[in-house]
Amino acid sequence: MSKTATKRSSRKPAATATPATPVTTATPAEAEPFVWTKKHLLGLDELTADEIVHILDTAESFREVSTRSIKKVPALRGKVVANLFFEDSTRTRMSFNLAASRLSADVIELVSTGSSVAKGETLRDTVRNIEAMGVDIVVVRHKQSGAAYMLAQCLSASVVNAGDGQHEHPTQALLDIFTIRQRLGSVAGKKVGIVGDIAHSRVARSNILGLRKLGAEVFVVGPPTLVPSAITAMGCEVCHSLDEVLPRLDVINMLRIQFERFSSNLFPSVREYAQLYGLNAERMRLAKPDILVMHPGPINRGMELTSDVADGPNSAILNQVTNGLAIRMAVLFLVNQANQV
Ligand code: CP
Repeated sequence: MSKTATKRSSRKPAATATPATPVTTATPAEAEPFVWTKKHLLGLDELTADEIVHILDTAESFREVSTRSIKKVPALRGKVVANLFFEDSTRTRMSFNLAASRLSADVIELVSTGSSVAKGETLRDTVRNIEAMGVDIVVVRHKQSGAAYMLAQCLSASVVNAGDGQHEHPTQALLDIFTIRQRLGSVAGKKVGIVGDIAHSRVARSNILGLRKLGAEVFVVGPPTLVPSAITAMGCEVCHSLDEVLPRLDVINMLRIQFERFSSNLFPSVREYAQLYGLNAERMRLAKPDILVMHPGPINRGMELTSDVADGPNSAILNQVTNGLAIRMAVLFLVNQANQV
C-alpha cells in the first residue's frame, strides 16, 4: 500500500465531529492521526490507497451516527453545502443532501431545470454566482466529463464530483468498495466482475481505479462494442463471456446500459443482451453460492438483472445505498477539514 500521501501530525479531528470512534487509520505503533490534505474530491485517479482506506474508515465512524436516535453531529455547523445537479439523479442527490444535513450544514440545491442555465449562462458563471452566497463545499454532477475539475480551478470552495460525464463517479466507487469490505472483510485479492456498459461508465472507471489500488482483481465483462480493449491499461482483464468468468467471481457489479449516451445501436436487442449478459436465477447457479451481487442503480429490471436476483439473498443493492450516506458524510467532513488546514 502506498504511503506517499500519508501525512501525520498531532492535529486531531475536530472533537465536535463526534463520530463514535476516532477518525484514524494509524496502527497502535504509530498513533498519530492521519491528516486529510485534499480540498477537493474529483476522482479516485488522484487518491492513494491510504487515502481511499482513510475515507472508508472515516465512513465507518459516521455509519454509527445513523444508528443513533438523534442522527446528527455538528461537524459542519455554520458551513454551506451547495448540491448542484445538472444531470438527473435520485440516489446521489438525496444522499449528499442528507449527508450534509446529518453534519449540520446548511444545504442549498440546484437542479438544472428551472435554473438560469436554460437562459444561456455558463456553468462557470452559474456556480461562481452560487459560491458568492458564501458556499463552502460545492457538490456537482454534470454530463460533461471534466466539469468538476474545471470548477475546482475557478472556485475557492471545495468541489466534490458527484459524477462527470463518462469520466468518474468517485463516491459511487467508494460506497461500492466500502460495501465489499463490509460484506467480505477485505478487498485485496477479491475477484470483482464489472458487467455491462463499460464504455460509457464513470462508475466502472472509478471502481476499477479504486479496486486495483486496494489490490482486487478486476474483470470487465460485456460485448466488444461496450468493452473497449484499451481498458486493460487500467489493470483489469477483459472477458466477453459472462458464463466463463462468473464461477471465479467473489463480487459481481451489474452496470446499467446507458442508452442516453449511445449514438448508435451497440447490440442487436435488449432480449439478446439479457440472454448473454443478464444475471438471472439460472445463471446464478454458475456462481459461487455466496457471490455478492451489486448494482449502482437505477436498475433496468429484466435487462441487467431479473427481480429474483436483484431482491434475492446475494443482493447488496440497498446496502450500497445505505453505505452511500456514510461515505458522503465522510467525504464532506474530510474536504472541509482540508480547507481549514
Ligand atoms: N448510482 C447513481 O449515481 O444513481 P443516481 O443517478 O440516481 O444518483
